[in-house]
Amino acid sequence: MPIMTTPIFPPQAPGSRPKGARSEREASAHVRNMFSRIAPRYDFLNHLLSLSLDRVWRRRAASKFQRVLRRTNARVLDLCCGTGDLTFAMERVRMKAWRDRGAYRIPMVGSDFAEPMLERAHEKGRQHHRAAVFVASDALRLPFPNACFDLVTTAFGFRNLANYENGLREIARVLKDDGQVGILEFSEPKGGPMAGLFRLYFRHILPNIGGIISGSKDAYRYLPGSVAKFPSRTELAEMMKRVGFVDVKIFSWNFGSVVLHSARMPEQASEPVNN
Ligand SMILES: C[S@@+](CC[C@H](N)C(=O)[O-])C[C@H]1O[C@@H](n2cnc3c(N)ncnc32)[C@H](O)[C@@H]1O
Repeated sequence: MPIMTTPIFPPQAPGSRPKGARSEREASAHVRNMFSRIAPRYDFLNHLLSLSLDRVWRRRAASKFQRVLRRTNARVLDLCCGTGDLTFAMERVRMKAWRDRGAYRIPMVGSDFAEPMLERAHEKGRQHHRAAVFVASDALRLPFPNACFDLVTTAFGFRNLANYENGLREIARVLKDDGQVGILEFSEPKGGPMAGLFRLYFRHILPNIGGIISGSKDAYRYLPGSVAKFPSRTELAEMMKRVGFVDVKIFSWNFGSVVLHSARMPEQASEPVNN
């Protein structure tokens, strides 16, 4: 009789697979420990390894959502916010639009499950007199009610989720009808003159510098591996549509190495009219 084995990761559930993790729970724990370990050097290394382009990408992503950010009553969640750089970039867009208006400010919410990253976000917010609030929570089990946000964003965090489709479902759950989502991620350019150069930098140079400065070689080896295994831009777009998002748009920057997916929840179906 054949021996039946239960796959630990069902084949239909793509998600982050750090080396040695045997279940989604272990994958999440591994990711949380890794980011907690590198938190003290995270910002410094981000800016160094990207030559500060990371700030440009977050600013660009924030500007794509200007319309919703400028609404004084918009509720915004930055998922996997880390040390809060996208949260603050979006807050800057809001502050610019609201200057002189004295509008009531609904604070932006940043959430992450690595508390040492959140402590830094909180400290940066305090130093720069920001209103954003930071909440410890797992992106796959958010502590928010259904349909409460107008915009959910995530920068360089979605790729680390142990189950991408469940991550999208959780985003869809907390978004209001017509609410928007933005997912900013790294991507491996597949062709063109920059593809080889990118691979050399991302797979060899970056892990070495990152490993030496952060003292965590694993973390900076995990980064190129996780980018290589992340669904392609069209696969992610298809997954978003399957979960129920509409108007999926893809913006590609830096020779295709940084990609923003934006989309929205459908507007509420209108009530049938009974004559
Ligand atoms: C590469 S950092 C990105 C941080 C920030 N968004 C930025 O732009 O610099 C990825 C972050 O995602 C967080 N993260 C990964 N999986 C998560 C999950 N399931 N729930 C909450 N946060 C998660 C990590 O703790 C980490 O802080």
